[in-house]
Amino acid sequence: MRQGEYAFYDFEPAVADMKEEVLEGLTAESKYLSPKYFYDMEGSRLFEKITQLDEYYLTRTEMSLFDSHLSEVSARVGEDLCLIEYGSGSSKKIRKLLEQLSVRAYVPIDISNTHLQENARALHRDFPHLDVFPVCADITQPFELPPGTRGLTRLGFFPGSSIGNFEPQQAQRFLAVIREEVGQGGVLLIGVDRKKPVDVLERAYDDEKGVTAAFNLNVLRHINHRLDTDFDLSGFEHEARYDEVEGCVKMYLVSKRHQVVEVDGSKIEFEAGECVHTENSYKYHPGEFLELANSAGFALEAEWSDSKGWFSLFLLKGVGQIRKDRVSM
Ligand code: TRP
Repeated sequence: MRQGEYAFYDFEPAVADMKEEVLEGLTAESKYLSPKYFYDMEGSRLFEKITQLDEYYLTRTEMSLFDSHLSEVSARVGEDLCLIEYGSGSSKKIRKLLEQLSVRAYVPIDISNTHLQENARALHRDFPHLDVFPVCADITQPFELPPGTRGLTRLGFFPGSSIGNFEPQQAQRFLAVIREEVGQGGVLLIGVDRKKPVDVLERAYDDEKGVTAAFNLNVLRHINHRLDTDFDLSGFEHEARYDEVEGCVKMYLVSKRHQVVEVDGSKIEFEAGECVHTENSYKYHPGEFLELANSAGFALEAEWSDSKGWFSLFLLKGVGQIRKDRVSM
């Protein structure tokens, strides 16, 4: 068997200016911070801890769905696959796929250049016959696949219910971008967290040990470090509320007292009890999610769920024509 190739493709995605973005969020009518600032080194370590919590059923449930159903996925998608991973995440999940599916080329896409290449190189070492083509790009923007993947069946992979972190309309647009990239006859394997009783959801995002709280608060520590600000982490507390109407867990940092923090020469005032929004996690009934996927040009191939019906793994196939107007972000 031939040795796998390794080639790195850099689309040089525009990286937002952190100072500008933080100031924009903190001077808005309702304050917010972008969730992308969760993931510095400490944030990634804390998120890894979240995935191991009793309360955080998502990762564990999705993993066991992979264990039970990847052989059926493999039978349905066939051989000669190009596996496209949107956001180079947990290497545990991707390794399961590479072990159980007939993948010829692996294309991880991520905006973080160093993180992307580190993971890709490790996989290239461990799967020596696999072609590995990391692409540095913004996953939400259409990109051209590396030429070495021509003729392969494209399988998109978006696990962890990360689709729930988009607003539904953005989620639909992003699915349409994936649909364009995998093409007619291409497939998408996607993990989606379902609607369920509010107490289960709120515990998953506000655990007993306070790991999720530390993760949310870490965004302030990260900003202090990068922008030389002076947020007092003990002056804020984590809050996770499930909005049943929207079907969405909303995460906030709540100011415990009146306080003023200087950011790049601007004084930002926080009232006691004022909320800074940091993340959304939308939950979907299977039917609701399928409607979204259909409108983006995907049809259902198969769906698997756990015995409690808490989490769904969807295998979708690209169908029909895509309208260009769905694709512009
Ligand atoms: N994709 C994860 C989710 O929505 C991200 C996440 C888990 C998260 N716990 C969090 C984001 C706490 C912010 C705060 O489940």
